[in-house]
Amino acid sequence: MKQTVDFLKMKRNQEMITMVTAYDAPTAKIVEDAAIDLILVGDSLGMVVHGHQGTQPVTLDDMLLHTKAVARGAKQTFIVSDLPFMTYHRSIEDTVTNATTLVQTGGAHAVKLEGCTGLILDSIERLTSGGIAVMGHLGLTPQSSTVLGGFKVQGRGEQERTKLIEDAKRIEASGAFALVVECIPESLTKELKDILAIPVIGIGAGKADGQVLVFHDLVGLTTGYIPKFAKTYANVHDVMLQAVEQYRDDVLRESFPDERYTFKDAKKERSTSV
Ligand code: KIV
Repeated sequence: MKQTVDFLKMKRNQEMITMVTAYDAPTAKIVEDAAIDLILVGDSLGMVVHGHQGTQPVTLDDMLLHTKAVARGAKQTFIVSDLPFMTYHRSIEDTVTNATTLVQTGGAHAVKLEGCTGLILDSIERLTSGGIAVMGHLGLTPQSSTVLGGFKVQGRGEQERTKLIEDAKRIEASGAFALVVECIPESLTKELKDILAIPVIGIGAGKADGQVLVFHDLVGLTTGYIPKFAKTYANVHDVMLQAVEQYRDDVLRESFPDERYTFKDAKKERSTSV
């Protein structure tokens, strides 16, 4: 399994870093089998798995449940788990307790948190000095979408751009091992990549040191709005829909279950295995 130092080395060697979200054991196994470098148990699960409009309803218990499932499905891949809405805004002690839950009980190898307040910077320092690796997240930070005025491109104005660069430097100085940047102009991503020693992992941010996509967007399982930056590589939704429709038709015309899927009396069939 790759470690945080390997991601730093990959950046130095200009090797691209790949990250994909996963929320359960089978999707985690697919991501691991595809030799993706990092799995993110993203709080995007609030939207793509639980059907919420945003990430704010996601709780620590939700993240814990999904992180445990991912850890069972992918034993050889570095797992980052999102600290959900308002679980790192009260005190450093509270943040440490919540991050410890995701790592110690959930099986994550690192946590990700959004934004850059004084408390967040102090928490990053405390977590990393205590042994919990931290990934930062700047730009469009979905947990603050209400304050940001919705899901919008960030860092376009000169002031916003300067602040984002300063925040990124602070996050690195506090000890984060990587930084996700979401929905910012590519020119800003390039500047961040050049300034920071830690890898900058982009989503809707153009070329960076690595890329992350949401699993459901990538495989075509997301229904409804798909953001411009999400490239869809398959249409799994339609494949699943067709399978369920065929099953329905088979049951209606009584062609399922046929002999192959049916048990016989003990006299006719020895095996008891299902
Ligand atoms: O929750 C998530 O999936 C994320 C990615 C969009 C980076 O934070």
